[in-house]
Amino acid sequence: MTTMPPPPAALQRLPRERLPDLLARMPKAELHLHIEGSLEPELIFALAQRNGVSLPYASVQALRAAYAFTDLQSFLDIYYAGASVLLHEADFCDMAMAYFRRAAADGVVHAELFFDPQTHTARGVSMGAVIEGLARAQAQAQRELGISSALILCFLRHLSEEDAFATLQAALPWRAQFIGVGLDSSERGHPPEKFSRVFARCRELGLRIVAHAGEEGPPAYIRTALDDLRVQRIDHGVRCVDDPALVTELVRRRVPLTVCPLSNVKLCVYRRMEDHVLPQLLSAGLCVTVNSDDPAYFGGYVLDNYRALFAAHPTLGPREAWQLAANSFEASFVDAAARDRGLAALAAVVESLASD
Ligand code: HPA
Ligand code: ZN
Repeated sequence: MTTMPPPPAALQRLPRERLPDLLARMPKAELHLHIEGSLEPELIFALAQRNGVSLPYASVQALRAAYAFTDLQSFLDIYYAGASVLLHEADFCDMAMAYFRRAAADGVVHAELFFDPQTHTARGVSMGAVIEGLARAQAQAQRELGISSALILCFLRHLSEEDAFATLQAALPWRAQFIGVGLDSSERGHPPEKFSRVFARCRELGLRIVAHAGEEGPPAYIRTALDDLRVQRIDHGVRCVDDPALVTELVRRRVPLTVCPLSNVKLCVYRRMEDHVLPQLLSAGLCVTVNSDDPAYFGGYVLDNYRALFAAHPTLGPREAWQLAANSFEASFVDAAARDRGLAALAAVVESLASD
């Protein structure tokens, strides 16, 4: 990895009062976003009507009222029900465009989107409808909003490795449309090593490798994601704090963590935002990033995550805001030129805020 630039000197002249402007205006990358988790209740109902799908909720309000989660599984049950309205290529395109518009308003200039093909192919939706619909939105978002993006295909870890292999095989005709693979869904009882062979095949194919680990699961899952799957980033990873030697290893290898503060509070990983360990991870020297996970379900998009985090943690100031945004470009899978453009745009925003 090439070295990162130091923080811009203007950062020292930026008073804490400018923090809200800095958070809103700083260009950022979003690296942990399940596109199916961006389906707002209004769009779920609109697509249900368009596609003649019946929902077990009487109204948008009734659906929203069900978003009181106690853990990851209680969320996943509703998240998969919401995704059942997605049938056609246009549905995937409309969903992703709605996300891109919202992300652009939050200063996102690059997004790496997770998608869960098994959630759709199990209902008879074709792989082509999923990937081509998302790809159409990506092209439109680049054209109309100036957002660059990439897709990461996630395997559902509650299903078998055999099912993951079949999913990979079915996606290969669209190999050029996705840059990497990930691992999501119910974590406990489904360790990363359950998927060692399919990830080995993905590495041979030149795919980027990430995995959810250490959200609800133990630090041991972070270790096997690193050593067995050989991931390039850990999604969540917050439970590494329970294993100081693991934190040291993550710092040494500069493995980024894509952290999702509002998600962690909504899914009861932490009782309150004040209890979130992100400041601790950052001061340990980890390459931490801030992301929204499933924004339609967890009470906010990426800027809401930054705001909630900084509001709850007075030790976080402009320096940490800059660091988190810089980390998002460092941790992204863009090439060095795009990364440097992101960092330069970030420095320019810091300088303009410091001088007006
Ligand atoms: N964790 C695991 N699987 C998921 C999540 C998550 O936060 N969101 C969507 N699938
Ligand atoms: Zn996630």
